[in-house]
Amino acid sequence: MPAEIISGTDVARTLRAELKAQVARLPEGQVPGLATVLVGDDPASRAYVGMKNRAAVEVGIHSRQIDLPEDVSHDELLGVVEGLNADPGIHGILVQLPLPRHVDETAILEAILPEKDVDGFHPVNVGRLAVGATDVLAPCTPRGIVELLLRAGHDPAGKHVVIVGRSNIVGRPMASLLLRRGKGGDATVTIAHSRTPDLGAVTRLADILIVAVGRPGTVTADMVRPGAVVVDVGVNRVEDASTERGYRLVGDVDFDGVREVAGAITPVPGGVGPMTIATLLSNTVQAAESIRQESGAGTASAADPASGAGTDPA
Ligand SMILES: NC(=O)c1ccc[n+]([C@@H]2O[C@H](COP(=O)([O-])OP(=O)(O)OC[C@H]3O[C@@H](n4cnc5c(N)ncnc54)[C@H](OP(=O)(O)O)[C@@H]3O)[C@@H](O)[C@H]2O)c1
Repeated sequence: MPAEIISGTDVARTLRAELKAQVARLPEGQVPGLATVLVGDDPASRAYVGMKNRAAVEVGIHSRQIDLPEDVSHDELLGVVEGLNADPGIHGILVQLPLPRHVDETAILEAILPEKDVDGFHPVNVGRLAVGATDVLAPCTPRGIVELLLRAGHDPAGKHVVIVGRSNIVGRPMASLLLRRGKGGDATVTIAHSRTPDLGAVTRLADILIVAVGRPGTVTADMVRPGAVVVDVGVNRVEDASTERGYRLVGDVDFDGVREVAGAITPVPGGVGPMTIATLLSNTVQAAESIRQESGAGTASAADPASGAGTDPA
C-alpha cells in the first residue's frame, strides 16, 4: 500500500491560523514585530524574504523589510542590526543569507540579540539547544519538522531517527531537538553524512528517516525500512522542459519509489518548506512573548499551551 502523504502545506495552514488567533488576542502594543534584512538583489533571496513577509502580515505580525544595496559596508549593516536590536517594536530579526563576500557573515549573525534571533543561528541559542534547553529559539526547519511529525501523529519519542546530513541549519539542530527530554524529543538519534560508508545500512535502521543533503535521489526504496516515516528536506531544481520555467523542484528522496515502501512520506514541494516559514512566525511570537516577560510587562500570554503554537514544540 502506498505511503500516507504528510502534507506540510495543510499542517502549516493550521499552524498559521492558530498563530493568527493568538496575535489577534493581543493588545495593539504587544503585537510581535519581525524585521527582515535583504542585502543585494538575488532573485531567490528576494522571493524567500517576500514569502516570509507575506506570511507574517497574514497572521497579523508587524513586518518590516529593510533592503540594502549589494555594496553596503559591513559597518553599515552592523548599524542596521544594532538599530533593530534597540527597537522595542521589533522582536524578531532575520538577516537573509547568503551575504555578500565583503561582509563578515558570522559577525553579523552574532550581532543579533539572541532573544531576537528568530532563525536560531546565534551561538548562544545553538549552545543552549545543544545542552537541551527547551525555552530556546531553535532553527526553523528542524523545529518545523518536529511540529510536523507530532501533528501528523508520528511522535519521535522512543523511535530510532536517522538524519542524513550534518549541516548547522538542519542536521545538527535536528538531532539536538530530537534528543531533548519531553515533547517532540526522547528519540534515539543517528546522524549520517557524506563520509558514512554504506549509507543504506544506516538508513534501513530508521523508524523515522530525515534526509537533508541537497542531492536528488540520495535515498532510494531499497534504503528504507518498510513502514518507516520519511521526511524529505531537500529542495533541488531538475531540468524539465515540459514545465513553463524549464525546471521542477524535487527533494533528496526518490519519491515514487520510496512511497511504495514507506509508511508515510513528506512531498517536495508541500512538505517541510511551508513548515519552515510557519515556524519562523511561531518563533517571532515566542520571541515577543519572552521579551515582554523579561521586561516585566507580561500580561496576556502570546503562547497558547493548548495549541502548542508559539511555544517550542518539543
Ligand atoms: N525546505 C526547507 O525549508 C529547507 C531548509 C533548509 C534546507 N533545505 C534543503 O535541504 C538540503 C540540505 O540543506 P543543508 O543546508 O543542510 O545542506 P548542506 O549544508 O550542503 O549539508 C548537506 C549535508 O549532506 C551531506 N551529504 C552530502 N552528500 C551526501 C551523500 N552522498 N550521502 C550522505 N550525506 C551527504 C553533507 O555531508 P558532509 O558534511 O560530509 O559534507 C552535509 O552534511 C538542500 O537541498 C536545501 O535546499 C530545505
